[in-house]
Amino acid sequence: MGNIFAVTNQKGGVGKTTTTVNLAASLAANGKKVLLIDLDPQGNATTGCGVDKETLKVSSYDVIMTQAKAIDAIVKPEDLSFSVMPTNADLTAAEVQLLDVKLREHRLRLALESTREKYDYILIDCPPSLNMLTVNALVAAKGVIIPIQCEYYALEGLSSLLKTIERVKQRANPALEVTGLIRTMFDARNNLANQVSRQLIQHFTDKVFHSIIPRNVRLAEAPSHGMPVIDYDRASRGSIAYMALASEFMRKQNKSN
Ligand SMILES: Nc1ncnc2c1ncn2[C@@H]1O[C@H](COP(=O)(O)OP(=O)(O)OP(=O)(O)O)[C@@H](O)[C@H]1O
Ligand SMILES: [Mg+2]
Repeated sequence: MGNIFAVTNQKGGVGKTTTTVNLAASLAANGKKVLLIDLDPQGNATTGCGVDKETLKVSSYDVIMTQAKAIDAIVKPEDLSFSVMPTNADLTAAEVQLLDVKLREHRLRLALESTREKYDYILIDCPPSLNMLTVNALVAAKGVIIPIQCEYYALEGLSSLLKTIERVKQRANPALEVTGLIRTMFDARNNLANQVSRQLIQHFTDKVFHSIIPRNVRLAEAPSHGMPVIDYDRASRGSIAYMALASEFMRKQNKSN
């Protein structure tokens, strides 16, 4: 469990997938062995890593439903510096199908038991919802990474996410902690963004990553080429920001281990 991180925020479009893909790539660029798990039926991380979600033989759906071992669902595209457990819309069905099964919240944790030691870091891209898939990610994880877009409604919903984390901690995963909040799509010229950023620091102090991810068109373009930004435009501000985030993340981990 020590190396698994859930990237989550039930608010949609805040940069979860962009953060998961680019943090994974930046950690891999530092020589780390990384696995990205796509746990969102939208399959955006899958596509963003250049994996065709329409032709998957095995996906995270099969793993959650115990129809396949984790190792059989993991792919390593030639051009990619890290491994991926892809997914597609099939995963939508898992939520309902899980309702009747024993240990439904522990499916992913159990599935990763034999695989997780092969990686330095495992990052899970979660759906924009606090559903059973997200709970599976939280039960499997050591840390939660929360991307936040610094705008008016940013803090709304954060308290229900923190409550869910607390509940999972009490019931299923005492080791779970918030690793950090990441300010995404940040525009420093925007007064409101600066104000929300200050509020975040007031509330969450050192849980807020110093590294800020700016709004950068290269980050938005890279997924349509099926690659992380570091491979698409290494010199872009987005790429540099995610490299800085990866360094800060690794420092934090070294301290807490
Ligand atoms: N720093 C950024 N600069 C510019 N565009 C960005 C940035 N981060 C994300 N985007 C774009 O914003 C949109 C939403 O980002 P992303 O898909 O990462 O969010 P998400 O939280 O995963 O969304 P969902 O809740 O639907 O899963 C995407 O089109 C993405 O390319
Ligand atoms: Mg997403």
